[in-house]
Amino acid sequence: MDETLPRVQREVVSFVRRSARMNTSQLKAWTDLQHWVVTVPTRQISTSVAPDARVDWPAVFGRHAPLVVELGGGTGDVIAAVAARQPARDFIAFEVFEPAVASTLSKCARAGVTNVRVVVANGVDALATLIDDGSLSELWTFFPDPWHKKRHHKRRLVSAAFADLAARTLAPDALWRLATDWDDYALAMRAVLDGHPQLQNCHGGWAPRWQDRPQTRYEAKGVAADRTIHDLCYRRTRDDA
Ligand SMILES: C[S@@+](CC[C@H](N)C(=O)[O-])C[C@H]1O[C@@H](n2cnc3c(N)ncnc32)[C@H](O)[C@@H]1O
Repeated sequence: MDETLPRVQREVVSFVRRSARMNTSQLKAWTDLQHWVVTVPTRQISTSVAPDARVDWPAVFGRHAPLVVELGGGTGDVIAAVAARQPARDFIAFEVFEPAVASTLSKCARAGVTNVRVVVANGVDALATLIDDGSLSELWTFFPDPWHKKRHHKRRLVSAAFADLAARTLAPDALWRLATDWDDYALAMRAVLDGHPQLQNCHGGWAPRWQDRPQTRYEAKGVAADRTIHDLCYRRTRDDA
């Protein structure tokens, strides 16, 4: 190997790079609604956020309001619906797949919301880099990719390391809401999160379905296949608790 060439480190990430071909309405939303996309400097790969990247969220939203992050929100069904119902909060979507971001933008436009912004990047990097410690009022990770094969489990989003990061960014008493339609992933989430020193299981077990969460395509697929939908909800403890 040529030692003079910089080595591009292959990271283990929770997503696959897919063709980002958009349909006509996605292309139109992508072009017309770029003002809701927050662009951040990246590292070698376009989805990874540069370690020195910063975003002044109050400046972006034009106000100081409680912040909610959805990581891997897909086509934006949840964020558009909840942002419309909660105008006093600001919502940030971290999503890597551009056609899904385009759909998110058009759903937000249809819902008439102005309190949503999207960052097209690896949400793990984005959470670590762009969100201050203790600043989030809520974090959502709904139906993360299950990565079924055992050798791929390391790509699952919800891991012990990610739990530490999530706990770090949540404000005291803030909530982390999760859902999955895969039993083994749901149990793996419980195994990591129930024992986390800075997270408290809000319901002591599975959470009731969060009524504000519209059913997404992924949830509908799980229901159609007779899989149980597991909701989970954790509260960030106070450091003095
Ligand atoms: C299975 S889909 C679920 C989408 C949505 N939450 C729903 O319920 O419909 C997972 C989504 O997470 C995105 N994703 C996975 N890992 C991500 C990461 N590290 N950063 C940002 N987005 C990610 C994928 O591109 C995909 O859109």
